[in-house]
Amino acid sequence: MGKKSKAFGLLSAAVLTFGLAGCGSDGGSGDGSGLDVGIVLPTKDEPRWVQDETRFQDALSDSDYTTEILFSQGSSAKEKENVETLISKGMDVLIIAPHDGTAAGSAVEAARDEGITVISYDRLITDTEAVDYYVTFDSVAVGEAQGQYLIDQAEGSGIPLYLYAGAASDNNAFLFFEGAWKVLQPKIADGTFVIANSGEAEALKDKAELSRDELGSILGQVTTNWDPSEAKNKAETHLTSAGADMKGDVSILAPNDGTARSIADVFASDGAITDYTITGQDAEKASIQYIIDGKQSMTVFKDVRTLVEDAMGMAVDVLDGNTPETTATYDNNSIEVDAKQTDVIVVDQENVQQELIDSGYYEASEFEGLE
Ligand code: BGC
Repeated sequence: MGKKSKAFGLLSAAVLTFGLAGCGSDGGSGDGSGLDVGIVLPTKDEPRWVQDETRFQDALSDSDYTTEILFSQGSSAKEKENVETLISKGMDVLIIAPHDGTAAGSAVEAARDEGITVISYDRLITDTEAVDYYVTFDSVAVGEAQGQYLIDQAEGSGIPLYLYAGAASDNNAFLFFEGAWKVLQPKIADGTFVIANSGEAEALKDKAELSRDELGSILGQVTTNWDPSEAKNKAETHLTSAGADMKGDVSILAPNDGTARSIADVFASDGAITDYTITGQDAEKASIQYIIDGKQSMTVFKDVRTLVEDAMGMAVDVLDGNTPETTATYDNNSIEVDAKQTDVIVVDQENVQQELIDSGYYEASEFEGLE
């Protein structure tokens, strides 16, 4: 509770600062010649990113800054085109969540060449010097929270553990898995869990810390590519080949809500699965309903309002000629990027009302069966 009110205190301070900064500047405080802030998001196909669009629109509704939001629809070529469109409109600051963190390098280099400040949003753009700032949630903590949840729910030993991960083109997928592995590995080593679906993870089960390449080899085997249908197909294949000893009560590390729901549906429809605990991430509305209904065990709530305020706060600082405040640095395999990092909150049936409804993030009327 203490933590929560602090987080929301900070949030309202951020809103206030942003509101004041936006006030009184006619047409924004950029160079006045075009677009102040261009925003590029990866895809409209996942509710996570539509949520970001909505939160940007809410935050910008009475701002004087000129902004435009474009979606890349899961294509690096479209993303590059979007950035070029925004450059041609005279943008001063680019806020971008890349589809593919490495491929986005050429798009942000084009922006940098025009003197545009680049803010990497949620996903880090890697292998380029053309990133000025990074606003993000604590992604290693997301994975740790998922792993810890499975541990806290585990009863007995020898519990089959099914591992799934995000897309290898997304740096976050590595951070999430790294965090989860950090807490789960000792519990695999002591026999609490038995890996059910990854020979690569099984081969590395005695290693507490994995290199990027080792993480990559596991991801290569259990990736969902952030795609719910790919997740579903993988889960079906895994359950088809699993022996009776890998059924019963099981634990599932699912990287986000979209993939968690489709994996959960597959496990729920297997008669030899007696019970399952499954993780998630993003607090998507459909997953909140799944949690209320007991079909998904938890989600990691990342308050997108905070991320939006941080990104816009940074953009406004840049437009006003001030240096944005940062709290961490991230190595993007080329430079250390100054970053602002936000905490995450675990949500399950116990606290869903308090964290998501009472906090004003969602309306109770959007769900069925809330007490
Ligand atoms: C984001 C997650 C999201 C995933 C799939 C990650 O980079 O941090 O919130 O679920 O991408 O879009």
